[in-house]
This record gives sequence, structure tokens and C-alpha cells, in this order.
Amino acid sequence: MAEQIRAVRGMHDILPSDTGRWQWLEDRARALLARYGYREIRMPLVEPTGLFRRSIGEVTDIVEKEMYSFEDRGGEHLSLRPEGTASCVRAAIEHGLLSQPQRLWYLGPMFRRERPQRGRYRQFHQIGVEVFGLTGPDIDLEQILLTRRLWEALGLTDLHLELNSLGDLPERMRYREALVAYLETHREALDDDSQRRLSTNPLRVLDSKNPAVQELIAAAPSLLDYLGTEARAHFNTLCRGLERAGLEVRINPRLVRGLDYYNRTVFEWITDALGAQGTVCAGGRYDGLVEQLGGRATPAIGFAMGLERLLELSSPTPEEIADAPDLYLVAVGEQAEAQAVLFAEQVREQLPGWRLLCHSGGGSFKSQFKKADRSGARFALVLGDDELASGRISVKPLRGQADQQTLALAELSSYLNAQQPSTDIAST
Ligand code: HAM
Repeated sequence: MAEQIRAVRGMHDILPSDTGRWQWLEDRARALLARYGYREIRMPLVEPTGLFRRSIGEVTDIVEKEMYSFEDRGGEHLSLRPEGTASCVRAAIEHGLLSQPQRLWYLGPMFRRERPQRGRYRQFHQIGVEVFGLTGPDIDLEQILLTRRLWEALGLTDLHLELNSLGDLPERMRYREALVAYLETHREALDDDSQRRLSTNPLRVLDSKNPAVQELIAAAPSLLDYLGTEARAHFNTLCRGLERAGLEVRINPRLVRGLDYYNRTVFEWITDALGAQGTVCAGGRYDGLVEQLGGRATPAIGFAMGLERLLELSSPTPEEIADAPDLYLVAVGEQAEAQAVLFAEQVREQLPGWRLLCHSGGGSFKSQFKKADRSGARFALVLGDDELASGRISVKPLRGQADQQTLALAELSSYLNAQQPSTDIAST
């Protein structure tokens, strides 16, 4: 046998048995985003590598070690997108969307060559939200409340919100100096990675997962003590809004995020239920990025959530997923089998709100019925030569004890419509 080719490590097929759960999550998010007036944007999966270098930052894990970058046949340096914000900003500038405020969202795969483990993949999926042209902090509040409402819609309860302000650039520079001075005095306690970051991107040291370094960080100067008047007022107003909305917040002055474009508000929604990869949603303000990428200075804020992580926490009911057919057409007899596909079309014509799976491939009555049952359908429609000749159809409920009925085709619709279809897909 020929050698089998397998999927790339850390990149997964989403099988039909799982796509119902994905669609359930995506549909809920889509509906909620529409309720807040956000509109979808779709960007390419591949962008010029320079876009990510200039936005995410040269000295970040993503740019230093995780991007899938390559030179195409024309010699262009391209990368699979590791996140959506940079692409969204690029698209918004390129298409002149920034002359007025924009509330945008996107959904799709992102690529980072991280070490795969539970909740961490090399191809993963995000729903991301980006708002342009609003200085906040009311829009910061709106975004956080939107995410809270989404957790409610998904039935997620054990998430908590961590919040910080990174201040504006001059404040961050002053903080950076103080942090470097502090860490320099403890240089020997830093691991190699942190020592390297100390000279290249010291704020990243705050992100260290090394327990010894974390101990040191706990006693480091706090970014919040370095905020200027405006950044502090912004942060306080946001905190007050969250309090009024009844949202419990953990202020975490060490929360710095792994991408360099942020300023002021940063936040993460975290769960303890997923082990080390507990951040399900993260984002913040990036007021300097549009200008940095060649656009006119435009305030911006956004976040992205990891769909694999959210799905791991979610338990939609079978009714909520509802991707089984409603009806399964069993055809027995030479004539009936030959006519089954056309007959199924007639039924679909009459019953646009019902999902009908037509058996194909023949087989005994018993084996077809077994398949009908396994399909999860609520009713089997039985088409035999007798039914075909008399223009009738037998209907057997597959759930519960009700008897089989034989009806004229014209009666089928009122009989079935008296039962509720499992989902209303009449409009699709
Ligand atoms: P991020 O923190 O890099 O931010 O990713 C956001 C979320 O994507 C994470 O909280 C996590 O749920 C998910 N995620 C990230 N990496 C992986 C992975 N390897 N496997 C599975 N899930 C993962 C951003 O991407 C920013 N663009 C967010 C943003 C939007 N900020 C402003 N606007």
C-alpha cells in the first residue's frame, strides 16, 4: 500500500461529527455581534511578512519563532497570518474604511508554530473584533460587556476577567526604565530568555512562566503607578463602568500581552478549567498601530477568542446542535428505488423547513431502517412499490412509540407540520 500522508502536526481536521458544535458556537457569536452592530470582514490568510514584523513586533515570540514564513515563486516574503489584527488594520487602511468609525469582526484560522499541547495548536481558529475611530473608554466597556454576553449565550460560567492599563508610550518608556533598573539588580536570578529580553523587550519579562522569575516579578514596580493623568482617567472610567455593570474584575498590573502594539486597556478572559492554556479571549487598545502601518492616526481596540478553547469549555445539547436529518427516506422495491431521488425532491419541494436524507445504495428494508435510525432522523419515510403505485407514503416516527401511518403525499406536509421541525431552516 502507498505511504499514507498525515496532517501537519498541530493542525487538525474538524470532522463532521464535530462541525455541528463549531457551527453552534459560530452562529451564536455571529448573531450576538450583529446585535451590537458589528460587521464582518474577511481578509486573506497570507500577508507580506513585513506586516507582522512591523505590528506584532520584532522581539516577540510570534515574530521571532512562530511564523510560517516563506518566499513565494516571485521572491515575495510572505507569512501565514498568526493573528487577525494586523491584517484587519492593513485592509482598513488599504480600502479607506477609516474615515468613519468601524466596528468589524472576522473569523478564521490563524497559524503559529508553537509547541502543540492541549489547547495550543499550530492552526487554530479565532473570532476577532476590531473597532476603529473611537477613543473610548465607552467602547472598551462595550467590548468587554459583549464578551460577557457571549459567555452567557454559550453557557460558560467559570471565566474571569483580568484587566490592566499599559498607559501611553512615554509612560511605558518611564516604566521600562524602572523595570530594567529593578531587574538588573536581580540579573543572576533571571533565566537566559529573560536576560535576553531584558535588553531587547523588557516588558516581556513580566510574561515569563518561570516560577523563579515570577517571584521576582511579583516585587517589581507596577505599571499602574506610572500612568499619566489621561491614561489613568481612561482606566478609572472603564473600571467604574465595569463595576456598574456588575462585572467582577481582577486588576493584574503584570498583564502585558504577547504582542507589542497595545497601549492603555488590555484584558484577558481566563479559565482554570483548561490547564496552562487558560486564556480564551484577549485583547486591548492599540491606538498607535494604524499610523505605524501607514494610515492616518486612528484610535482602535479589539480582541480575539480562541474557538478551540471555547469549544472545550462548552457543552451544547444535542437539540442545540441539531445537525441530524429530520426525515430519512427508505425505498424498497425496484420501482421505488429507481424513483427515490425524484420522490425526495417532491418532498423537499413541499417541506422546505425539513431536512431529508435520501437513502442510497439499496439494501434490505431492515438494513435501511437501521441506517435511518442511526442517522438521528425523527421520521422514516417508507416508499415501496405499493406506495408508489398508489401515490402514498408511509411515515414511521423513529423516536417514541407512535405507529406508522400511510398518507397521501398531499397529506404528508400537514401531518409533519403538525410536528415541530427540529430547527427552522426554511430560509436557508
Ligand atoms: P492573542 O492573545 O495572541 O491575541 O490570541 C487571542 C486568543 O487566541 C488567545 O487568548 C487564545 O484563546 C487563542 N490562541 C492564541 N494562540 C493559540 C494557539 N496556538 N492555539 C489555540 N488558541 C490560540 C491576538 O491574536 C490579538 N490579535 C487579539 C486582538 C485583537 N487584540 C486586538 N484585537
